[in-house]
Amino acid sequence: MAIDLDRVRADTPGCSNVLHFNNAGAALPPQPVLDAQVGHLEQEAMIGGYEAEAEAEPKLRRTYDAIAEMLGCAANEVALVENATRAWDMAFYAMPFGPDDRILTSRAAYASNHIACLQVANQTGATVDVVPSTEYGEVNVDALRAMMDSDVAMIALTHVPTNGGLVNPAAEVGKVAQDAGIPFLLDACQSAGQMPLPIDEIGCTMLSATGRKYLRGPRGTGFLYVQRDWIERLEPPLLDLHAATWTAPDTYEMQPDARRFETWESHVAGQVGLGVAVDYALELGLDAIFDRIQHVAGTLREALRTVFGVTVHDVGRVRSGITTFSAKQMSAGEIQAALRERDVNVSVSTPSSTRLDAEARSLPDLVRASVHYYNTEDEIDRFVSALRDVLANAS
Ligand SMILES: Cc1ncc(COP(=O)(O)O)c(C=O)c1O
Repeated sequence: MAIDLDRVRADTPGCSNVLHFNNAGAALPPQPVLDAQVGHLEQEAMIGGYEAEAEAEPKLRRTYDAIAEMLGCAANEVALVENATRAWDMAFYAMPFGPDDRILTSRAAYASNHIACLQVANQTGATVDVVPSTEYGEVNVDALRAMMDSDVAMIALTHVPTNGGLVNPAAEVGKVAQDAGIPFLLDACQSAGQMPLPIDEIGCTMLSATGRKYLRGPRGTGFLYVQRDWIERLEPPLLDLHAATWTAPDTYEMQPDARRFETWESHVAGQVGLGVAVDYALELGLDAIFDRIQHVAGTLREALRTVFGVTVHDVGRVRSGITTFSAKQMSAGEIQAALRERDVNVSVSTPSSTRLDAEARSLPDLVRASVHYYNTEDEIDRFVSALRDVLANAS
């Protein structure tokens, strides 16, 4: 079923206020997500935070169930955490890496993930190997297969990188990981809410994601999926009295499920809002969402190619809603600031956010115009004319 644009835009108060092409930063939330958060905050103020949380128990349970429905996993394989980075870290740092271990990652790795790999390599003597990319910019699955040996301890892949339209072939990587019986950690921060994420087809053992981007949920929310068998094998790097129980003066027992990756204190209003955001996406359908996003982003890329001085930098055979470009007249930061003055939101992707890819492709700072299903052709026209105007005024 195609998305009812009038309805989703009417549901999104920000649509009448701003031209928002910064969905890879934080998307505009729909009204039900806003109402759920505000409603919970009001309850906290009226009856007390702990009491409001107890009352919200069914809604919080729905958040786990909705995420599980989206991924096709069990609710007790899902941990709610504060962002995608923390989710990724809790899984990654739980791995008992040693000096003989190899961690395989890819060229479009997100900075925080790669920094963590380098830290673990420094601390344990493990090696970090970068799988080469194909001519299309995707992780090269044949090269990955050829790199597999008994020392490979983990494959870590960024599904949709922060700096462009690429969608990596996660399911093909999952097949290699499964054939070798190696854990596969998928950074789905930019893909969650943008496209279907069927765990059984992707074959990842762990998956990290955030609430505020394509899921249109609240800031300060994220989640981690860990496959049942791996939950039992992983000891999170941080434990508290929620993740574990202090059973005797010198012993503790970790939660048997994914709760072992959580902390006791949490942003309850955000977690309630996250469940509503996931339900909103599920109701529209993730296939329909991805179809619409690909259409909008494809139209934007075509339109950008007609603008004098602009180069579009997106790679990949399958492309996401993230569109990146540079212009010879102005820097990305100047373009972002000038567009902001015209109530147009974009962000800037710097080489340090994806250093391996940026260096391999000699990328400058890029303007990142990331579109969602609720963006329209009319907004693309307005965007391109605002951009032409900004570039025409370049000194
Ligand atoms: C690919 C990717 N992974 C991870 C993150 C980190 O997400 P968070 O800020 O929720 O920790 C981002 C944020 O932009 C990202 O683009």
